[in-house]
Amino acid sequence: MIESEGTLLLLGTSEIKNNELYIGGVSVSDLKEKFGTPLYIIDQADLEDRMETFVTQFKSDQFETHISYASKAFTNLYMAGLCKKHGLHIDVVSGGELFVALEAGMDPAHIYFHGNNKTADEIEYALSAGVGTFVIDNIQELRWLNQLTKEMEKQTQALLRINPGIEASTHKYIQTTTNDSKFGISTDDEMIHDMIQSLIDAPQIDFRGFHCHVGSQVTDEKYFFQEAEAIVSFTSTISKRYDIDIKEINLGGGFGVQHTPESPSIDFESFLTRYIDVIEATLQKYKIKPEVISIEPGRSMINNSGYTLYSVGHVKHTLEGLPLIFVDGGMSDNPRPSLYEAEYHAYLANKMENQVSENYRVAGKLCESGDVLIQSIELPAAESGDLLIIPASGAYTYSMSSNYNLMPRPGVVFVKEGQVVEAVKRQSYQDLIVNQRHYSN
Ligand code: LLP
Repeated sequence: MIESEGTLLLLGTSEIKNNELYIGGVSVSDLKEKFGTPLYIIDQADLEDRMETFVTQFKSDQFETHISYASKAFTNLYMAGLCKKHGLHIDVVSGGELFVALEAGMDPAHIYFHGNNKTADEIEYALSAGVGTFVIDNIQELRWLNQLTKEMEKQTQALLRINPGIEASTHKYIQTTTNDSKFGISTDDEMIHDMIQSLIDAPQIDFRGFHCHVGSQVTDEKYFFQEAEAIVSFTSTISKRYDIDIKEINLGGGFGVQHTPESPSIDFESFLTRYIDVIEATLQKYKIKPEVISIEPGRSMINNSGYTLYSVGHVKHTLEGLPLIFVDGGMSDNPRPSLYEAEYHAYLANKMENQVSENYRVAGKLCESGDVLIQSIELPAAESGDLLIIPASGAYTYSMSSNYNLMPRPGVVFVKEGQVVEAVKRQSYQDLIVNQRHYSN
Protein backbone atom coordinates (compact mmCIF):
# COMPACT_ATOMS: atom_id res chain seq x y z
CA MET A 1 0.00 0.00 0.00
CA ILE A 2 1.18 3.52 -0.61
CA GLU A 3 0.01 6.86 0.64
CA SER A 4 0.36 9.84 -1.63
CA GLU A 5 1.50 13.21 -0.42
CA GLY A 6 0.35 16.77 -1.05
CA THR A 7 -2.86 17.95 -2.62
CA LEU A 8 -1.96 17.36 -6.25
CA LEU A 9 -2.97 14.16 -7.93
CA LEU A 10 -1.08 14.64 -11.17
CA LEU A 11 -1.44 11.22 -12.72
CA GLY A 12 0.00 9.62 -15.85
CA THR A 13 1.09 12.13 -18.45
CA SER A 14 -0.81 15.06 -16.94
CA GLU A 15 1.23 18.23 -16.53
CA ILE A 16 0.77 21.94 -15.95
CA LYS A 17 1.73 24.48 -18.63
CA ASN A 18 0.85 28.17 -18.43
CA ASN A 19 -1.46 27.55 -15.49
CA GLU A 20 -3.39 24.98 -17.48
CA LEU A 21 -3.76 21.22 -17.33
CA TYR A 22 -2.47 19.14 -20.24
CA ILE A 23 -3.14 15.42 -20.64
CA GLY A 24 -1.35 13.33 -23.25
CA GLY A 25 0.25 16.52 -24.51
CA VAL A 26 -3.14 18.11 -25.24
CA SER A 27 -4.52 21.16 -23.49
CA VAL A 28 -7.76 20.53 -21.70
CA SER A 29 -9.22 23.82 -22.95
CA ASP A 30 -8.55 22.68 -26.55
CA LEU A 31 -10.47 19.52 -25.80
CA LYS A 32 -13.36 21.57 -24.48
CA GLU A 33 -13.32 23.75 -27.62
CA LYS A 34 -13.39 20.75 -29.96
CA PHE A 35 -15.60 18.30 -28.11
CA GLY A 36 -17.60 20.29 -25.56
CA THR A 37 -18.30 19.26 -21.97
CA PRO A 38 -18.94 17.05 -20.09
CA LEU A 39 -16.26 14.92 -21.66
CA TYR A 40 -14.48 11.74 -20.63
CA ILE A 41 -10.74 11.96 -21.35
CA ILE A 42 -8.49 8.90 -21.36
CA ASP A 43 -4.71 9.18 -21.05
CA GLN A 44 -3.89 6.43 -23.51
CA ALA A 45 -0.13 6.15 -22.86
CA ASP A 46 -0.78 5.80 -19.14
CA LEU A 47 -3.47 3.19 -19.76
CA GLU A 48 -1.23 1.19 -22.10
CA ASP A 49 1.59 1.34 -19.55
CA ARG A 50 -0.72 -0.13 -16.95
CA MET A 51 -1.85 -2.87 -19.32
CA GLU A 52 1.81 -3.76 -19.82
CA THR A 53 2.46 -3.64 -16.07
CA PHE A 54 -0.27 -6.23 -15.49
CA VAL A 55 0.97 -8.41 -18.34
CA THR A 56 4.64 -8.31 -17.32
CA GLN A 57 4.30 -8.35 -13.52
CA PHE A 58 1.57 -10.96 -13.15
CA LYS A 59 3.73 -13.74 -14.57
CA SER A 60 5.05 -17.02 -13.26
CA ASP A 61 7.24 -19.80 -14.59
CA GLN A 62 4.92 -22.31 -12.91
CA PHE A 63 1.68 -21.50 -14.74
CA GLU A 64 0.30 -19.44 -17.60
CA THR A 65 -1.41 -16.20 -16.57
CA HIS A 66 -4.40 -14.47 -18.13
CA ILE A 67 -5.14 -10.82 -17.50
CA SER A 68 -8.83 -10.64 -18.26
CA TYR A 69 -9.97 -7.02 -18.34
CA ALA A 70 -13.36 -6.60 -16.64
CA SER A 71 -15.05 -4.61 -19.36
CA LYS A 72 -17.93 -3.51 -17.13
CA ALA A 73 -15.56 -0.87 -15.72
CA PHE A 74 -15.34 0.93 -19.07
CA THR A 75 -15.71 -0.47 -22.53
CA ASN A 76 -16.22 0.57 -26.12
CA LEU A 77 -14.76 -0.54 -29.44
CA TYR A 78 -11.58 1.47 -29.00
CA MET A 79 -10.93 0.24 -25.45
CA ALA A 80 -11.58 -3.40 -26.35
CA GLY A 81 -9.26 -2.92 -29.33
CA LEU A 82 -6.49 -1.77 -26.97
CA CYS A 83 -7.08 -4.85 -24.80
CA LYS A 84 -6.63 -7.01 -27.87
CA LYS A 85 -3.45 -5.15 -28.86
CA HIS A 86 -1.90 -5.78 -25.43
CA GLY A 87 -2.82 -9.46 -25.36
CA LEU A 88 -5.42 -9.16 -22.63
CA HIS A 89 -8.40 -11.47 -22.30
CA ILE A 90 -11.74 -9.84 -21.61
CA ASP A 91 -14.52 -10.44 -19.11
CA VAL A 92 -18.06 -9.67 -20.25
CA VAL A 93 -21.28 -9.85 -18.25
CA SER A 94 -23.98 -9.34 -20.83
CA GLY A 95 -24.85 -9.86 -24.46
CA GLY A 96 -24.09 -6.17 -24.98
CA GLU A 97 -20.56 -6.34 -23.57
CA LEU A 98 -19.99 -9.52 -25.55
CA PHE A 99 -21.15 -7.81 -28.74
CA VAL A 100 -18.71 -4.92 -28.23
CA ALA A 101 -15.81 -7.28 -27.54
CA LEU A 102 -16.56 -9.30 -30.67
CA GLU A 103 -17.09 -6.20 -32.82
CA ALA A 104 -13.72 -4.92 -31.59
CA GLY A 105 -12.11 -8.09 -32.95
CA MET A 106 -11.37 -9.88 -29.67
CA ASP A 107 -10.67 -13.55 -30.21
CA PRO A 108 -13.81 -15.27 -28.80
CA ALA A 109 -11.53 -17.86 -27.19
CA HIS A 110 -10.16 -15.02 -25.02
CA ILE A 111 -13.55 -14.05 -23.64
CA TYR A 112 -14.87 -15.04 -20.21
CA PHE A 113 -18.65 -14.84 -19.96
CA HIS A 114 -19.82 -13.83 -16.48
CA GLY A 115 -23.12 -12.88 -14.91
CA ASN A 116 -25.38 -14.09 -12.12
CA ASN A 117 -28.41 -14.38 -14.40
CA LYS A 118 -27.34 -15.00 -17.96
CA THR A 119 -30.41 -15.51 -20.08
CA ALA A 120 -30.83 -18.54 -22.32
CA ASP A 121 -30.63 -16.16 -25.31
CA GLU A 122 -27.31 -14.77 -24.09
CA ILE A 123 -25.94 -18.27 -23.57
CA GLU A 124 -27.02 -19.23 -27.07
CA TYR A 125 -25.43 -16.08 -28.51
CA ALA A 126 -22.17 -16.74 -26.64
CA LEU A 127 -22.08 -20.37 -27.75
CA SER A 128 -22.66 -19.50 -31.37
CA ALA A 129 -19.92 -16.84 -31.16
CA GLY A 130 -17.51 -19.43 -29.76
CA VAL A 131 -16.90 -17.72 -26.40
CA GLY A 132 -13.96 -19.39 -24.66
CA THR A 133 -15.10 -19.78 -21.08
CA PHE A 134 -18.43 -19.58 -19.28
CA VAL A 135 -18.15 -18.68 -15.63
CA ILE A 136 -21.12 -20.58 -14.23
CA ASP A 137 -22.93 -18.79 -11.46
CA ASN A 138 -25.95 -20.99 -10.68
CA ILE A 139 -27.66 -24.28 -11.37
CA GLN A 140 -30.23 -22.88 -13.80
CA GLU A 141 -27.51 -21.47 -15.99
CA LEU A 142 -25.75 -24.82 -15.89
CA ARG A 143 -28.94 -26.60 -17.02
CA TRP A 144 -29.30 -24.19 -19.93
CA LEU A 145 -25.66 -24.51 -20.87
CA ASN A 146 -25.94 -28.30 -20.81
CA GLN A 147 -29.06 -28.30 -22.92
CA LEU A 148 -27.89 -25.69 -25.41
CA THR A 149 -24.44 -27.20 -25.95
CA LYS A 150 -26.20 -30.50 -26.81
CA GLU A 151 -28.81 -28.92 -29.07
CA MET A 152 -26.27 -26.74 -30.84
CA GLU A 153 -23.59 -29.45 -30.86
CA LYS A 154 -21.06 -27.08 -29.31
CA GLN A 155 -18.16 -27.69 -26.98
CA THR A 156 -17.20 -25.09 -24.38
CA GLN A 157 -15.06 -24.52 -21.31
CA ALA A 158 -16.44 -23.62 -17.91
CA LEU A 159 -15.36 -22.37 -14.52
CA LEU A 160 -17.63 -22.47 -11.48
CA ARG A 161 -17.95 -19.22 -9.53
CA ILE A 162 -17.61 -20.00 -5.85
CA ASN A 163 -18.25 -17.93 -2.76
CA PRO A 164 -15.95 -18.77 0.15
CA GLY A 165 -17.66 -16.32 2.53
CA ILE A 166 -15.06 -13.55 2.89
CA GLU A 167 -16.20 -10.11 4.00
CA ALA A 168 -13.75 -7.80 2.26
CA SER A 169 -13.63 -4.28 3.57
CA THR A 170 -15.31 -2.05 0.99
CA HIS A 171 -18.72 -0.44 0.42
CA LYS A 172 -21.43 -3.03 1.09
CA TYR A 173 -22.88 -2.66 -2.42
CA ILE A 174 -19.64 -3.94 -3.91
CA GLN A 175 -18.87 -6.79 -1.54
CA THR A 176 -19.37 -10.08 -3.41
CA THR A 177 -18.36 -12.95 -1.16
CA THR A 178 -20.46 -12.39 1.93
CA ASN A 179 -22.68 -15.32 2.87
CA ASP A 180 -25.81 -13.70 1.49
CA SER A 181 -24.24 -12.52 -1.76
CA LYS A 182 -26.23 -12.96 -4.94
CA PHE A 183 -23.09 -14.11 -6.76
CA GLY A 184 -21.80 -17.63 -7.16
CA ILE A 185 -22.39 -20.67 -5.05
CA SER A 186 -21.25 -20.89 -1.46
CA THR A 187 -18.53 -23.46 -0.83
CA ASP A 188 -20.61 -24.58 2.18
CA ASP A 189 -23.76 -25.13 0.13
CA GLU A 190 -24.33 -28.84 -0.53
CA MET A 191 -25.70 -28.02 -3.97
CA ILE A 192 -22.19 -27.16 -5.07
CA HIS A 193 -21.52 -30.90 -5.32
CA ASP A 194 -24.45 -31.46 -7.68
CA MET A 195 -23.07 -28.67 -9.82
CA ILE A 196 -19.53 -30.04 -9.84
CA GLN A 197 -20.80 -33.53 -10.68
CA SER A 198 -22.95 -32.22 -13.55
CA LEU A 199 -20.00 -30.26 -14.88
CA ILE A 200 -17.80 -33.34 -14.76
CA ASP A 201 -20.51 -35.45 -16.41
CA ALA A 202 -21.30 -33.05 -19.27
CA PRO A 203 -19.33 -34.38 -22.27
CA GLN A 204 -19.66 -31.08 -24.15
CA ILE A 205 -18.37 -29.00 -21.25
CA ASP A 206 -14.71 -28.92 -20.32
CA PHE A 207 -14.87 -28.17 -16.59
CA ARG A 208 -11.62 -26.33 -15.98
CA GLY A 209 -11.86 -25.06 -12.42
CA PHE A 210 -13.05 -22.31 -10.13
CA HIS A 211 -13.56 -18.58 -10.09
CA CYS A 212 -13.94 -16.16 -7.21
CA HIS A 213 -14.17 -12.37 -6.99
CA VAL A 214 -13.84 -11.05 -3.47
CA GLY A 215 -15.34 -7.58 -4.00
CA SER A 216 -14.44 -4.27 -5.58
CA GLN A 217 -12.42 -1.23 -4.57
CA VAL A 218 -10.63 -3.34 -1.97
CA THR A 219 -7.48 -1.54 -0.85
CA ASP A 220 -6.29 -3.96 1.81
CA GLU A 221 -4.33 -6.65 -0.03
CA LYS A 222 -4.82 -9.21 2.73
CA TYR A 223 -8.26 -10.02 1.30
CA PHE A 224 -6.77 -11.07 -2.03
CA PHE A 225 -4.33 -13.36 -0.25
CA GLN A 226 -7.12 -14.74 1.94
CA GLU A 227 -9.18 -15.39 -1.18
CA ALA A 228 -6.26 -17.20 -2.87
CA GLU A 229 -5.92 -19.45 0.17
CA ALA A 230 -9.66 -20.17 0.21
CA ILE A 231 -9.97 -21.01 -3.49
CA VAL A 232 -6.80 -23.11 -3.61
CA SER A 233 -7.72 -25.06 -0.49
CA PHE A 234 -11.21 -25.68 -1.92
CA THR A 235 -9.66 -26.77 -5.22
CA SER A 236 -7.47 -29.24 -3.39
CA THR A 237 -10.46 -30.76 -1.54
CA ILE A 238 -12.47 -31.07 -4.74
CA SER A 239 -9.72 -32.49 -6.90
CA LYS A 240 -9.13 -35.23 -4.30
CA ARG A 241 -12.81 -35.95 -3.75
CA TYR A 242 -13.63 -36.21 -7.47
CA ASP A 243 -10.20 -37.32 -8.65
CA ILE A 244 -9.96 -34.54 -11.21
CA ASP A 245 -7.23 -32.15 -12.29
CA ILE A 246 -8.13 -28.50 -11.90
CA LYS A 247 -6.69 -26.68 -14.90
CA GLU A 248 -7.57 -23.08 -14.12
CA ILE A 249 -8.15 -20.83 -11.12
CA ASN A 250 -9.54 -17.37 -11.75
CA LEU A 251 -9.10 -14.99 -8.83
CA GLY A 252 -11.28 -12.14 -10.13
CA GLY A 253 -10.43 -8.46 -9.76
CA GLY A 254 -11.31 -5.84 -7.18
CA PHE A 255 -7.94 -4.13 -6.71
CA GLY A 256 -8.61 -0.74 -5.19
CA VAL A 257 -7.48 2.57 -6.63
CA GLN A 258 -6.70 6.01 -5.38
CA HIS A 259 -9.36 8.66 -6.00
CA THR A 260 -8.05 11.51 -3.87
CA PRO A 261 -4.58 12.59 -2.70
CA GLU A 262 -5.46 11.41 0.81
CA SER A 263 -6.83 7.99 -0.03
CA PRO A 264 -4.74 4.81 0.00
CA SER A 265 -4.03 2.89 -3.16
CA ILE A 266 -2.14 -0.13 -4.33
CA ASP A 267 1.22 0.19 -6.02
CA PHE A 268 0.45 -2.35 -8.73
CA GLU A 269 3.96 -3.22 -9.78
CA SER A 270 4.96 -4.39 -6.35
CA PHE A 271 1.52 -5.72 -5.43
CA LEU A 272 1.36 -7.99 -8.49
CA THR A 273 4.77 -9.47 -7.72
CA ARG A 274 3.75 -10.12 -4.11
CA TYR A 275 0.45 -11.55 -5.31
CA ILE A 276 2.21 -14.01 -7.63
CA ASP A 277 4.52 -15.04 -4.76
CA VAL A 278 1.54 -15.70 -2.49
CA ILE A 279 -0.27 -17.66 -5.21
CA GLU A 280 2.79 -19.80 -5.96
CA ALA A 281 3.33 -20.52 -2.26
CA THR A 282 -0.34 -21.36 -1.73
CA LEU A 283 -0.39 -23.73 -4.73
CA GLN A 284 2.71 -25.45 -3.39
CA LYS A 285 1.21 -25.74 0.08
CA TYR A 286 -1.84 -27.58 -1.32
CA LYS A 287 0.11 -29.38 -4.07
CA ILE A 288 -2.13 -28.01 -6.80
CA LYS A 289 -0.76 -27.43 -10.28
CA PRO A 290 -3.21 -25.55 -12.48
CA GLU A 291 -2.16 -24.69 -16.01
CA VAL A 292 -3.64 -21.19 -15.83
CA ILE A 293 -4.14 -18.54 -13.16
CA SER A 294 -6.28 -15.60 -14.24
CA ILE A 295 -7.21 -12.27 -12.74
CA GLU A 296 -9.85 -9.75 -13.81
CA PRO A 297 -8.81 -6.16 -13.13
CA GLY A 298 -11.42 -3.62 -14.18
CA ARG A 299 -11.18 -0.45 -12.11
CA SER A 300 -7.46 -0.80 -11.47
CA MET A 301 -6.79 -0.88 -15.22
CA ILE A 302 -8.76 2.17 -16.32
CA ASN A 303 -9.65 4.37 -13.38
CA ASN A 304 -6.52 6.44 -12.96
CA SER A 305 -6.14 7.05 -16.69
CA GLY A 306 -9.59 8.60 -16.90
CA TYR A 307 -10.71 12.19 -16.30
CA THR A 308 -14.11 13.83 -16.49
CA LEU A 309 -14.13 17.41 -17.72
CA TYR A 310 -16.95 19.84 -16.97
CA SER A 311 -17.66 23.51 -17.51
CA VAL A 312 -18.61 25.61 -14.53
CA GLY A 313 -21.96 27.36 -14.88
CA HIS A 314 -23.17 29.22 -11.84
CA VAL A 315 -21.25 29.62 -8.59
CA LYS A 316 -23.70 30.06 -5.74
CA HIS A 317 -23.44 30.84 -2.05
CA THR A 318 -26.43 29.46 -0.15
CA LEU A 319 -28.20 31.43 2.55
CA GLU A 320 -26.02 29.66 5.08
CA GLY A 321 -22.92 30.59 3.10
CA LEU A 322 -22.11 27.22 1.53
CA PRO A 323 -20.18 27.87 -1.69
CA LEU A 324 -21.47 25.66 -4.51
CA ILE A 325 -19.93 25.15 -7.93
CA PHE A 326 -22.44 23.94 -10.50
CA VAL A 327 -21.08 21.87 -13.39
CA ASP A 328 -22.77 20.90 -16.64
CA GLY A 329 -22.99 17.18 -15.80
CA GLY A 330 -23.40 15.24 -12.59
CA MET A 331 -24.94 11.96 -11.53
CA SER A 332 -25.86 11.15 -15.12
CA ASP A 333 -22.18 10.87 -16.05
CA ASN A 334 -20.91 9.77 -12.63
CA PRO A 335 -23.47 8.17 -10.32
CA ARG A 336 -20.79 6.83 -7.96
CA PRO A 337 -20.83 9.60 -5.30
CA SER A 338 -24.59 9.29 -4.89
CA LEU A 339 -24.61 5.47 -5.07
CA TYR A 340 -21.54 4.55 -3.03
CA GLU A 341 -20.60 7.86 -1.38
CA ALA A 342 -17.45 7.69 -3.50
CA GLU A 343 -15.03 10.58 -3.02
CA TYR A 344 -13.24 12.36 -5.85
CA HIS A 345 -10.66 15.07 -6.31
CA ALA A 346 -10.91 18.05 -8.70
CA TYR A 347 -8.98 20.92 -10.23
CA LEU A 348 -9.91 24.05 -12.03
CA ALA A 349 -8.05 23.01 -15.15
CA ASN A 350 -7.59 26.61 -16.33
CA LYS A 351 -6.35 27.84 -12.90
CA MET A 352 -3.94 25.09 -11.92
CA GLU A 353 -1.49 27.38 -10.11
CA ASN A 354 -3.91 29.88 -8.60
CA GLN A 355 -4.06 30.09 -4.82
CA VAL A 356 -6.86 28.06 -3.30
CA SER A 357 -9.58 30.31 -1.99
CA GLU A 358 -12.52 28.37 -0.62
CA ASN A 359 -13.91 24.96 0.28
CA TYR A 360 -16.48 24.35 -2.39
CA ARG A 361 -19.14 21.73 -2.86
CA VAL A 362 -19.29 20.55 -6.49
CA ALA A 363 -22.86 19.87 -7.57
CA GLY A 364 -24.28 18.66 -10.85
CA LYS A 365 -27.20 19.95 -12.89
CA LEU A 366 -29.55 17.01 -12.35
CA CYS A 367 -32.83 17.53 -10.52
CA GLU A 368 -31.81 15.80 -7.29
CA SER A 369 -30.45 17.29 -4.09
CA GLY A 370 -28.17 14.25 -3.91
CA ASP A 371 -26.55 15.17 -7.20
CA VAL A 372 -23.28 16.18 -5.59
CA LEU A 373 -19.98 15.07 -7.15
CA ILE A 374 -17.70 16.32 -4.37
CA GLN A 375 -18.88 17.30 -0.89
CA SER A 376 -15.98 19.57 -0.06
CA ILE A 377 -12.85 20.58 -1.92
CA GLU A 378 -10.45 23.48 -1.71
CA LEU A 379 -10.21 25.27 -5.06
CA PRO A 380 -9.16 28.68 -6.36
CA ALA A 381 -11.94 31.27 -6.67
CA ALA A 382 -14.30 29.75 -9.24
CA GLU A 383 -16.38 31.57 -11.81
CA SER A 384 -18.62 30.79 -14.70
CA GLY A 385 -16.64 29.49 -17.67
CA ASP A 386 -13.95 27.75 -15.62
CA LEU A 387 -13.10 24.16 -16.45
CA LEU A 388 -13.50 21.72 -13.60
CA ILE A 389 -11.80 18.38 -14.07
CA ILE A 390 -12.09 15.23 -11.95
CA PRO A 391 -9.01 13.02 -12.25
CA ALA A 392 -9.05 9.30 -11.43
CA SER A 393 -12.62 8.93 -12.64
CA GLY A 394 -12.26 6.46 -15.51
CA ALA A 395 -13.92 3.43 -13.95
CA TYR A 396 -17.66 2.88 -13.65
CA THR A 397 -18.50 6.41 -14.77
CA TYR A 398 -18.98 6.25 -18.54
CA SER A 399 -20.12 2.63 -18.15
CA MET A 400 -22.73 3.59 -15.54
CA SER A 401 -23.82 6.82 -17.17
CA SER A 402 -27.49 7.34 -17.90
CA ASN A 403 -29.84 9.61 -19.78
CA TYR A 404 -31.53 10.78 -16.59
CA ASN A 405 -33.13 14.19 -17.12
CA LEU A 406 -32.48 13.29 -20.77
CA MET A 407 -28.89 14.34 -20.47
CA PRO A 408 -27.06 13.19 -23.62
CA ARG A 409 -24.22 10.83 -22.68
CA PRO A 410 -20.83 12.60 -22.97
CA GLY A 411 -18.27 11.60 -25.57
CA VAL A 412 -14.99 9.82 -24.86
CA VAL A 413 -11.64 10.97 -26.21
CA PHE A 414 -8.31 9.17 -25.99
CA VAL A 415 -5.28 11.46 -25.91
CA LYS A 416 -1.70 10.41 -26.58
CA GLU A 417 1.42 12.35 -27.60
CA GLY A 418 -0.53 15.41 -28.67
CA GLN A 419 -3.05 13.41 -30.74
CA VAL A 420 -6.74 13.05 -29.96
CA VAL A 421 -9.07 10.23 -30.99
CA GLU A 422 -12.79 10.70 -30.49
CA ALA A 423 -13.57 7.11 -29.56
CA VAL A 424 -17.20 7.75 -28.64
CA LYS A 425 -19.20 10.71 -29.92
CA ARG A 426 -21.34 12.69 -27.53
CA GLN A 427 -25.00 11.74 -27.93
CA SER A 428 -27.11 14.25 -29.78
CA TYR A 429 -30.67 15.24 -28.88
CA GLN A 430 -31.73 13.23 -31.93
CA ASP A 431 -30.03 10.14 -30.45
CA LEU A 432 -32.28 10.50 -27.42
CA ILE A 433 -35.41 9.79 -29.46
CA VAL A 434 -33.98 7.34 -31.97
CA ASN A 435 -36.07 4.41 -30.72
CA GLN A 436 -39.22 6.40 -30.02
CA ARG A 437 -42.35 7.00 -32.02
CA HIS A 438 -44.81 9.88 -32.03
CA TYR A 439 -48.26 9.57 -30.65
CA SER A 440 -50.89 9.50 -33.35
CA ASN A 441 -54.54 8.48 -33.31
N1 LLP B 1 -14.68 -9.87 -11.94
C1 LLP B 1 -15.94 -10.00 -11.53
C2 LLP B 1 -16.56 -11.29 -11.55
C3 LLP B 1 -16.65 -8.87 -11.09
O1 LLP B 1 -17.89 -9.01 -10.66
C4 LLP B 1 -16.02 -7.60 -11.11
C5 LLP B 1 -16.74 -6.40 -10.69
C6 LLP B 1 -14.71 -7.53 -11.58
C7 LLP B 1 -14.05 -8.68 -11.98
C8 LLP B 1 -13.94 -6.24 -11.68
O2 LLP B 1 -13.80 -5.63 -10.46
P1 LLP B 1 -12.88 -4.33 -10.34
O3 LLP B 1 -11.46 -4.78 -10.59
O4 LLP B 1 -13.34 -3.35 -11.35
O5 LLP B 1 -13.12 -3.84 -8.96
N2 LLP B 1 -20.13 -0.25 -10.04
C9 LLP B 1 -19.28 -0.49 -8.91
C10 LLP B 1 -18.36 -1.65 -9.12
C11 LLP B 1 -19.08 -2.96 -9.42
C12 LLP B 1 -18.12 -4.07 -9.67
C13 LLP B 1 -18.82 -5.30 -10.09
N3 LLP B 1 -17.98 -6.40 -10.37
C14 LLP B 1 -18.49 0.79 -8.61
O6 LLP B 1 -18.66 1.78 -9.31
O7 LLP B 1 -17.72 0.82 -7.64
